[in-house]
Amino acid sequence: MKIAVFVSGSGTNLQNIIDAVQSGQLENVEIAMVMADRDCYAVERALDYDIPTFLLEERSMFSEDADGNLEGENIDLIVLAGFLSILSEEFTEKWKNKIINIHPALLPKFGGKGMYGEKVHKAVLEAGDPQSGATVHYVTAGVDEGEIIVQKDFEVELRDEVEDLQRKVAEVEREILIQAIQKIQAEKH
Ligand code: GRF
Repeated sequence: MKIAVFVSGSGTNLQNIIDAVQSGQLENVEIAMVMADRDCYAVERALDYDIPTFLLEERSMFSEDADGNLEGENIDLIVLAGFLSILSEEFTEKWKNKIINIHPALLPKFGGKGMYGEKVHKAVLEAGDPQSGATVHYVTAGVDEGEIIVQKDFEVELRDEVEDLQRKVAEVEREILIQAIQKIQAEKH
């Protein structure tokens, strides 16, 4: 299965996929390309592993430019890993059910425009929710609205601060992103 990974940040989720491929936890999976909408550490990680990497700086043109790079590459799955730009409706339609995203909360709660990174964990703590977690879902034109593929929760402890949730969510993400890719792979064959 050929995967394209879209990134905007530190690339911890990209690294999780690279590690899973290297360790054999993900079989018959190739990260065919990484595309970034800004210069970010995830680009460094991709280059360290000689993955073909595109840095598309003009965000308003990202969907169009990305589609051009994907043409003819026989990509089976696009993974948004810490990706912060909103993809165009035509792009998400063209790649319907072939784009997945990982979100650091239990969607449909604490999702939607502007809900990413620390903002999500702050909202969970302010709401006093007893649980948090992460979600892998299909990407549609709406932000964080597609069908959920895998979700995993954990108990929020009284003394938890944003950093604690960030750490706990990162552990859940490492697990469920790979699970989601394996699930999709199994369904395709
Ligand atoms: C995580 O919060 C993830 O849920 C969200 O982006 C953050 C990780 O970014 N999609 P990165 O993979 O470290 O760049």
